[in-house]
Amino acid sequence: MKPIDIKKLNLVINKSMIKFLNIKKQDKKIKNFILKDIKKIINKNNFILGEEVHNFEKSFAKFCNTKYAISCANGTDALTIALKILNLPKNSEVIIPAMTYCSTAFAVINAGLNPVLVDLEKNKPTICIDEIKKKITRRTKVIMPVHLYGSVVNIKKIKKIINNKKIYIVDDCSQAHGAKFEDKRVGSLSDISCFSLYPGKNLGAYGDAGIITTNNKKLYIKAKNFRNLGSDKKFFHTQIGFNSRLDTIQAVVLTQKLKNLEKYNKKRSQIAKYYDENITNKDISKLIYSKGSVYHQYVILVKNRIKLEKLLNANKIQYGFHYPQSIHQLDCLKNKFKRKKFENSETIAKKCLSLPIDPTLKFNEIKKIVSVLNTF
Ligand SMILES: Cc1ncc(COP(=O)(O)O)c(C=O)c1O
Repeated sequence: MKPIDIKKLNLVINKSMIKFLNIKKQDKKIKNFILKDIKKIINKNNFILGEEVHNFEKSFAKFCNTKYAISCANGTDALTIALKILNLPKNSEVIIPAMTYCSTAFAVINAGLNPVLVDLEKNKPTICIDEIKKKITRRTKVIMPVHLYGSVVNIKKIKKIINNKKIYIVDDCSQAHGAKFEDKRVGSLSDISCFSLYPGKNLGAYGDAGIITTNNKKLYIKAKNFRNLGSDKKFFHTQIGFNSRLDTIQAVVLTQKLKNLEKYNKKRSQIAKYYDENITNKDISKLIYSKGSVYHQYVILVKNRIKLEKLLNANKIQYGFHYPQSIHQLDCLKNKFKRKKFENSETIAKKCLSLPIDPTLKFNEIKKIVSVLNTF
């Protein structure tokens, strides 16, 4: 299957459209609280690792039902830090899905490790667990599943495959804040969990931000030091770390926004249910999401994507692509994965189109989207 030319995809941004993402509207009711809290930080001058950072970490750990949370500068760093603190032999293998955001793979490479790709399950956004089993070698030290689009990977099954081998599970939860597997929250399922808090995420800051959760005290202490240049105490550097701290200003933004997360996740699920039940066009395939998914993206597959783009543009409906290339198709990695085939990931890359699923969408907007799709 030939990779599509990403230059041919035109992302549309126009104020009068049905928006793909509307952070301003999402935060309308809490904006004044956020501004008040930011003002307090400015007056206090505690911009770096202020007590508000610690408070946010505590709230997020409680939300995920984990013992510890360590904030950092972004989701890519969260993943990289998680891998670095495991002190694995160079070039150890880390199993990741072939379809994910580039950061999952880059974090592995930047940590001096070797990404091993596994395809997604057919018609699902999650990694194929039977394929993971086939890719485990003596060098496999980490399995890094991604809860892509907010759909939760069955970590219980992965644990069964690992059995008693010394392989860590570090899950990329960047698209699944608040999602659940059975009665457990994402963030509490693995040895280490990593979240991006990029503005467009289900929980997003007003800039770059990220957070790590774990129940392991040793890993918690290591990660906490690592994100602060390997230091817990000024001028004492016990390891060579990153400068990857969450700004105190972002911590107060996130503390306010965490209060809306569950409500907005429910809205996303309602919109997804409406799409599931009412998009009837046979030329559109829907993906199967996990129970407990938080629908960070609602992705459909279409054969004639250019035609659909034209129709959506004409109807002023914004859309996205997650993602138009899988990991082995990225310019910087295609030589590394030459001759590798990941059929299901390639299908998503070629046919995917993400529909608006912003929790502030009005019912008539969702209805309009569905009727446009059904006439395509
Ligand atoms: C699955 C996944 N992993 C990692 C990241 C990287 O996060 P950040 O952009 O905060 O570095 C993202 C963000 O888009 C993501 O969606």
